[in-house]
This record gives sequence, C-alpha cells and structure tokens, in this order.
Amino acid sequence: MLNSAIQINPLREGLGGRATPEPCTLVIFGATGDLTHRKLVPALYNLAADGALPPAMGVVGFARRDKTDEIFRSELEEAARKYSRQSINDELWKSFASSICYHRSGFDDLAGYESLAKRLDELDAARGTRGNRLFYLAAAPDQFEVILENLRKSGLNRGANGGWSRVIVEKPFGTDLPSARQLNTLVEGAFPEADTYRIDHYLGKETAQNIMVLRFANALFEAMWNARYIDHIQITASEPLGVEGRAGYYDKSGALRDMVQNHLLQLLCLTAMEPPAGLDADAIRDEKVKVLRSLRPIEGSDVSKYVIRGQYGAGAINGKRVAAYRDEANVDPESMTETFVALQVNVDNWRWAGVPFFVRVGKRLPKGGTEIAVHFKSVPPVLFKATGEAVDDNVLVIRIQPDEGVSLRMSAKMPGSSLRIEPVKMDFHYGTSFGKATPEAYERLLLDAMSGDPTLFARRDEVEEAWKFVDAIREAWIANPEDLTFYSSGSWGPAEADELIKRHGTTWRRL
Ligand code: BG6
Repeated sequence: MLNSAIQINPLREGLGGRATPEPCTLVIFGATGDLTHRKLVPALYNLAADGALPPAMGVVGFARRDKTDEIFRSELEEAARKYSRQSINDELWKSFASSICYHRSGFDDLAGYESLAKRLDELDAARGTRGNRLFYLAAAPDQFEVILENLRKSGLNRGANGGWSRVIVEKPFGTDLPSARQLNTLVEGAFPEADTYRIDHYLGKETAQNIMVLRFANALFEAMWNARYIDHIQITASEPLGVEGRAGYYDKSGALRDMVQNHLLQLLCLTAMEPPAGLDADAIRDEKVKVLRSLRPIEGSDVSKYVIRGQYGAGAINGKRVAAYRDEANVDPESMTETFVALQVNVDNWRWAGVPFFVRVGKRLPKGGTEIAVHFKSVPPVLFKATGEAVDDNVLVIRIQPDEGVSLRMSAKMPGSSLRIEPVKMDFHYGTSFGKATPEAYERLLLDAMSGDPTLFARRDEVEEAWKFVDAIREAWIANPEDLTFYSSGSWGPAEADELIKRHGTTWRRL
C-alpha cells in the first residue's frame, strides 16, 4: 500500500541534516501587528512546547506604541491562547514569556535602534544569546526601507561579539519586478544574500516539503514524471474566506500577486523541477529558478486566452449569506481587483513539453483546500474496449492541506463474475501514518532561520523571475480592464475558468 511505500525521514534530516538552532535574540519589527499575534508568537510557543527552541533565546518586540513588557506579554498570551496549535500550558507560557520584552521606538528613529543595540548586549549577557540576532520584518512593507537603513546605520546588521545577524523579510516582497529589485537592493545594502530569509510560508508546509521526497525517493513516480506519461497537472488553492479585514492590502494586490506570484509558483516549481545536485539550499533553489525561467511568458492578447480573473459577488458559504467583494469594508465599490485566478501555464523544457499546468486560486469558494493533482495519460484504448467499460486515468493527488497526504486513483476490477472496472483510491494520511500533528509552517521557518538554513526561503533570483512572469499578465490586465468576470460566493469561480480547462478536454477536479 502507498502508506508503507512512502518512507519519509523527519524533514529536518531530509533536507540535508542541518545544525540545531543557535542561541539568538529574535527582534520583531511590527510586534503589535496581526502576523506577530496570529502566527509568530503561537509558532514560537509551540516550538517551546516541543523543546525545539535553542537553549538560550530572547524575543524583543519593536514597535511604536507605548507599552510595558508586562502588557506586551499579556497581549501575546491572549493571542497565543486563541491561535496556538497546542493548548497553552500556564507554567510553560510563564517561562516562555519571561524571554519576551518590548522595545518602544519609531521605525524612523535611529536613537531607538542604538538603544536596542545596548539592550541586546545586555540580553546577551543575561541570557547567553551570544551576540546572534535575527531581525524579522513583520511591519508594513512601506516601512522596510527605513528599518533596513537604520539597522545598517546602527551596526545591528553585523551581529555582535562574533555573533551573526540575519534578516527575515515577510511577504509581499515587492509589488512588481522593479519594486522587488529595489527592495532586494535595499536588503543587500544591509545583509548579504546568505543572511537574507525571504518568507514564503507555503515552503514551510510539511506537505510542500514532501513533494521532493515523494518524487525523488520513490522510483515509481519519478520514472513517469514527464510528458510521456503525464497529461496535465492541476494546482488548486481554494479558500471559503473572503478578504477578512485585509482590504487595505488586498484591494491593491489581488489574487495574482497575493498567491500566484509566490505560493502557487513555488508549488509548481517543486512539482516541475529536475532532481537537484544535492540537498543544500542553492542546489534546490537553482532547480526552481530553472523552472521559472522555462515558463512560457503569457503576454498581450494571450492573457485573455490563458488567464481568467474573477471577483466574488454576494452568495452563500456553508449556508450563510456573505457580501460581495465590492461591499466589503474598505474595498473600493468599483474595485477591479481579482479574488480568483485560473491560468494555463506551460513549462517549455524537455520534461514538460506539451503538458499544461492548470493553476487556480480563489477566495469565497465552497471549500478550503490546496492540492496538486497529477493526471496521467490514458492507457491505449484497446484491451477493455470490447467490454464497454470506461477506464479512468490515474490521478496522483498531493494534498497540501487540510488532511495532508497523498492519494492515487487507480482502476480495479469489481468483484463478481462479469468484468466491471471501477476507480479505487490508495490513500496516505499524514495524521494516521505518523500519528502526530504536522507543525505550522512558521514553526519550521523560524527554526530554519535560527539554524542558518535558507533552503525553504526564496532566493533573490527566484522572487524576481516570478515577478517577471506575473508582471506580463498584469500589464495586459491594466490595458484591458474589461475582462474581469464575476462569480457568486460559494461557487467554484467563473464559468470562463471551466472553459479554460475544457479546451484541454478535461475538467477541474472537485476538492
Ligand atoms: C497569504 C495570503 O499569503 O496566504 C492570504 O496573503 C491567504 O490571502 C493565505 O489567505 C493562505 O495561506 P494558508 O496557509 O491559509 O493557505
């Protein structure tokens, strides 16, 4: 069975046996924001609960508002109780929280960075964090420049007393190729590429990491992983949620930039890349970049042919009425922002010649789920033709979330005296096979940054190549705004998306 066929090492060894996280102080810029509350602090708490944090560690929240360490900690506790994967143990929280403090400063106030440097030195002495500093840019992107500039001016970008200094940059990494390049140059002015960790949280998802193991640790799949045997691949990320109070950002971004430029192209790269020369960060990222360079550009009049964009109207999700995107708080009532994109991507290289990748992402769809479905070619229509039985094609589905796992659809003979052929499924579930909950992406990513392993972070050229592909599509959209379509909330997106895949003689998989 597939269950026992997939031998997965714990991924910390699976990607090359890295060092354990080193003692350090994590400084979070934008410490009072949503990301810190919903993701970063719950992730840190879970790492603490699993005994995975470095032996010496401090967390400093850097933000403008005036508050004491105690108030900051109690706000974080409230958030951790709400968003943590594991429930909060009071004793453990207390000991974890004692490592957290608050540093009040404006992002543009150099003196605030200088006093931070002093405070970090004191923390090194008190906690044994050895001058190692990890700076997390979780503030609004328009603050990145001033933060980087002040980190450089205050010398914080260089670590202290022989320690290291690294920076984690949250998405969005730019809004197009020129702005991404500009941001890359800014970051480079303060931190070398080797110390720069660009977050794409999809890379931290356990199942995204499993794509490489599934492909390259199983002779069965890789032998058939090419245009000879694969008909097409569908990559779907579907969310029932709407814009959820993030209109200020989302209305200027849209699904293409919010999800395709980063998460979905990353999944596509992991699915399409050649075996890397090794498991080190650059060997893997080199192969992903090659995929991005092989993407056939979609530009000009091809955009309306190969890319469908939609925006959700009013409708119902799980029986509950929900508003149209344009009626959401802080959304421009005439907004042309897309909340759904479906596109056909061609990877013009030897392995994938003629195999379309259908990528779709949307908000307010009926069901939440992210998956990669590899549809194999049909068997020759000869042997079972006379029986009149239809034979379904093999489909290998990698479920990124929820119910993480892998399933394979096959054909089998139905028991009985006549020849009846039915599709059956072999199914591997992470939960049942490994018997433990998969960690949150941010847990893995924070740990890797503390360990100095950038494998699961995007490299400069990766980000820029992805923007190049996406920018060409956006240019055509700007020139031709009329082709935005609308779909009801709770539907699977606009009918045009069904037409797109129908041209290939197939349909979208139902999640
Ligand atoms: C974020 C996007 O990067 O990813 C959101 O900005 C999206 O719009 C989210 O909802 C999806 O992440 P996940 O982990 O819930 O699939």
